[in-house]
Amino acid sequence: MIALVRAALAASRTARRAGRAALTMVFAVGLLLPAQGALAVQHVALAAPAAVALPPMGWNDWNHFHCNINESVVQQTANAFVSSGLKAAGYQYVNIDDCWLAHSRDASGQLQADPAKFPHGIKAVADFVHSLGLKLGIYEDAGTMTCAKFPGSLGHEATDAATFASWGVDYLKYDNCNNQGIAARTRYQAMASALKNVSRPIVYAICNWGQETPWIFGPQVGGNLWRTTGDISDNWARMLKILHAQVPLATFSHPGAWNDPDMLEVGNGKMTATEYRTHFSMWALLNAPLLVGSDVRTMSATTASILLNRDVIAVDQDWGGEQGHRIRVSGSSEVWAKRMSDGSVAVALLNTGTGRATVRTSASAVGLPGKSSYTARDLWSKATRTTGASIGASVPAHGVVLLRVS
Ligand code: GLA
Repeated sequence: MIALVRAALAASRTARRAGRAALTMVFAVGLLLPAQGALAVQHVALAAPAAVALPPMGWNDWNHFHCNINESVVQQTANAFVSSGLKAAGYQYVNIDDCWLAHSRDASGQLQADPAKFPHGIKAVADFVHSLGLKLGIYEDAGTMTCAKFPGSLGHEATDAATFASWGVDYLKYDNCNNQGIAARTRYQAMASALKNVSRPIVYAICNWGQETPWIFGPQVGGNLWRTTGDISDNWARMLKILHAQVPLATFSHPGAWNDPDMLEVGNGKMTATEYRTHFSMWALLNAPLLVGSDVRTMSATTASILLNRDVIAVDQDWGGEQGHRIRVSGSSEVWAKRMSDGSVAVALLNTGTGRATVRTSASAVGLPGKSSYTARDLWSKATRTTGASIGASVPAHGVVLLRVS
């Protein structure tokens, strides 16, 4: 066992040095500590490099809960991952955003959780999340304070990375508030180096809102994803603006290093089901991280039917050599395409207008080889049809028809 642990830790260090995300296999060794009640499961975390690091899938509290976050919400969310089928569909990161911290560091200079919100501390939450076969993410900031004015990590990177590793954190979202005007590359490199020095692989999510070209410095410092824009909000215009901001960035992502157009709003209630299907389809086409931003403990059937659509998830979780990108725009009709690793092409026929419209493209325009006919599967209606070289559909206002054409 000890040799196994050593080998795994060595593999983990190798993976970090290579700047890649790594999978963590967590083995529950079944030491139940009654004193810590429900949160008590002890683990030995063994790390192994991922065969291919896919866009992270999970949840983050911010879009729905903002600062109203606590241990119960995180635990209940982790349980809901299992009971709702999110875990089975591939969602694994349960991510805590801003406001988890106490207002000051402890006497030894270490970060500490707010004792009212997280009375058992973050390690206990991580242990609980791990006991369900899920992973825990946390939030910090590359400045003197987080955006909500809790202690930041600027100048404390090594200490804080070691603290996160000791708690069993698997994912760090690293924000950009109160940054003292220091160059982003310098600040994000400092935390990247600190994370490389801990024995645990921690996915590194750079969140500096697309400033100072994170798609260039992000992968260079070993970031696994980087936010490309300011914050999303739960409305069509903002979601569409963020989608359009991705158009020039398609070439910057690759396995283990992804453009992040921000967390999902699906299920938060201010867009229609059609708009949420568009949001989810387009994020999948972009190989975006799929981080659910709604309350999954009370997920409606409609929200579940969107977030659990495995055909759409499969588009997100496939690397066919490039992120999906827009190939044509004409008024409010847009065609986006993404090559899939099996040779098929995911095609999004998008109608951003306010009335129904027919959106068309062709097999050659989306990169399919010349054939007399093609099979097109609609990833929402599940209907399959045979089509000639012209690929088109009638699309409702603010809607998308997402096809997988082979
Ligand atoms: C910034 C980030 C958001 C969220 C908040 C928390 O605005 O971009 O995603 O983390 O901070 O304060």
